[in-house]
Amino acid sequence: MILVTGGAGFIGSNFVLDWLAQSDEPVLNLDALTYAGNMENFAALDGDPRHVFVHGDICDRALLDRLLAEHRPRAVLHFAAESHVDRSIHGPAAFVRTNVEGTFTLLEAARAHWSRLSDAERAAFRFHHVSTDEVYGSLEPGEPAFTETHLYQPNSPYSASKAASDHLVRAWFHTYGLPVLTTNCSNNYGPFHFPEKLIPLMIVSALAGKPLPIYGDGLNVRDWLYVKDHCSAIRAVLAGGRPGEVYNIGGWNERTNRQIVDAICALLDELRPDPAGAHRRLIKFVTDRPGHDRRYAIDARKIERELGWRPAESFETGIRKTVQWYLDHQGWVERVQSGAYRDWLAQHYGAAA
Ligand code: NAD
Ligand code: TYD
Repeated sequence: MILVTGGAGFIGSNFVLDWLAQSDEPVLNLDALTYAGNMENFAALDGDPRHVFVHGDICDRALLDRLLAEHRPRAVLHFAAESHVDRSIHGPAAFVRTNVEGTFTLLEAARAHWSRLSDAERAAFRFHHVSTDEVYGSLEPGEPAFTETHLYQPNSPYSASKAASDHLVRAWFHTYGLPVLTTNCSNNYGPFHFPEKLIPLMIVSALAGKPLPIYGDGLNVRDWLYVKDHCSAIRAVLAGGRPGEVYNIGGWNERTNRQIVDAICALLDELRPDPAGAHRRLIKFVTDRPGHDRRYAIDARKIERELGWRPAESFETGIRKTVQWYLDHQGWVERVQSGAYRDWLAQHYGAAA
């Protein structure tokens, strides 16, 4: 069995669904179900004994000890985090708690579990830490993309808390020998993305005829990766990555925010034309985000060279699939927007939730 933390979030739920589509190895999914966790994402797994969900917090050491002793996972895949930069600006405390203290607590629990395993199990055990390219800070136009040895220069409370967690993971390898893997990935997009991040927000707002708010001049650059490619990269690193190593994951898809919003508007004009006019008319430039990083770009040559991983989707194929997914799942969007998605656990699991 593998233990996944934060498996009810955007990337975690894609990871769990993809994992169980390709393997019969069960998943123990530990998630605190903050606003970002959505059990409805697992509707297709209802009653599937390979998915064991536990509603709990990675800061709860006693719970972690109990779960690890009971289920004896061969690997921990650590996705749980507070993940939205804008939220981190308004309320950084939750980011320090979950991303720093939570990762520390999980590392300590994993270390205790690992130290009690047999020699063979200890050698095979992995702690895979899922992190972000934002820890490297901001690039100027024309600067080379981030490699694994790039200086850490986090600029937001979110990226600073993720950088701190990366350092803890590194130290648990060097000091205690815990077999860790760290991946730093670029911006993801795809199914189940909470509609407060750029791509899903633009899709659902455009469909509702609402303004499309672009921060500042809209020329900030992100390097976009279809979420299922991130999941395949994590599987590749878990299977073949060298303990103690860092792997950058990206899709070689740098785009300005304006290009992203233009692409979404053009796809919607094609797939769901609005009689009121082209969706681009809804674009509105708004006040910039404080400390807004100008550019991220990932150099993904190491993971390709060592593990043979490459993304399957280009930006054009991935964004088309994503827009279509939102068109096909408007009920999901409505329940996220109304808050009804939060009732799922109580409805399906009753008082035990
Ligand atoms: P998300 O916000 O959609 O999901 C996070 C999940 O963690 C939620 O289900 C939430 O309920 C859970 N969680 C939060 N605090 C918890 C706690 N204390 N205990 C247990 N569970 C808790 O995030 P995401 O976009 O899916 O990101 C997943 C991971 O990938 C994060 O570590 C993030 O830093 C990293 N990452 C994200 C991106 C991206 O573009 N979204 C890119 C690179 C890396
Ligand atoms: P976001 O999805 O929040 O990811 P991150 O900041 O972690 O890269 O934002 C992606 C880019 O889109 C970022 O440059 C900020 C910008 N943005 C907007 O212009 N408008 C918006 O409403 C949002 C949410 C983001």
